[in-house]
Amino acid sequence: MTISVKAIIGSTSSTSNNLKLVEYMKNRYADKLDITPVFINDVETFSIDIENDPTANVNKFKADVKDSDAVLFAVPEYNYSIPGALKNAIDWLSRGGDLTIKDKPAFIVGSSMGVLGSVRAQMHLRDILSNPALSPILLPGNEVYIGSIHEKMNEAGEITDHGTIEFLDLVVNNFIEFYHKTNTAITI
Ligand SMILES: Cc1cc2nc3c(=O)[nH]c(=O)nc-3n(C[C@H](O)[C@H](O)[C@H](O)COP(=O)(O)O)c2cc1C
Repeated sequence: MTISVKAIIGSTSSTSNNLKLVEYMKNRYADKLDITPVFINDVETFSIDIENDPTANVNKFKADVKDSDAVLFAVPEYNYSIPGALKNAIDWLSRGGDLTIKDKPAFIVGSSMGVLGSVRAQMHLRDILSNPALSPILLPGNEVYIGSIHEKMNEAGEITDHGTIEFLDLVVNNFIEFYHKTNTAITI
């Protein structure tokens, strides 16, 4: 059984390294995870004024995320935090009373061109996600920071760094084990 995973792409860039990372994972783990990227580019800026009458783009974004077994966040770092567009999209997920990602198994990957590989962004993201209106069940103990991503990926978007590939394999296997344990715990 493959696990359906909606991968929230935290970048709005058409040449996003984090999108390429997700596409790489989609291909590499196709026999285990059914990964579909979800884009935040068209999600309108959140306002209380439109909270109860969200646009079609917002509704589609939320429905896409909700319609999954699990969620993957692919996170760039902007100014030591997550990009504003990602924070905006997450703000939408927290509203409307439908608790879009609450108790959904989730994990985080992130890459940046700096050496720290989005570590500060991911620390903020974990804090944000701990809000009770969000609260996915995050894979503990597996933190994926891919620094200098431009040196570890080729033109075709394939990871060329063996250490990075082995680490991703390990984390994906850990997530799958965690997913099954979590699901058992929820159903008994
Ligand atoms: C506005 C802006 C701020 C950035 N701030 C950081 C930063 O604080 N730390 C870092 O490692 N990289 C930073 N970067 C570089 C990004 O991590 C890098 O461009 C990364 O590839 C973006 O992800 P993406 O390719 O998926 O869009 C910044 C880039 C931009 C455009």
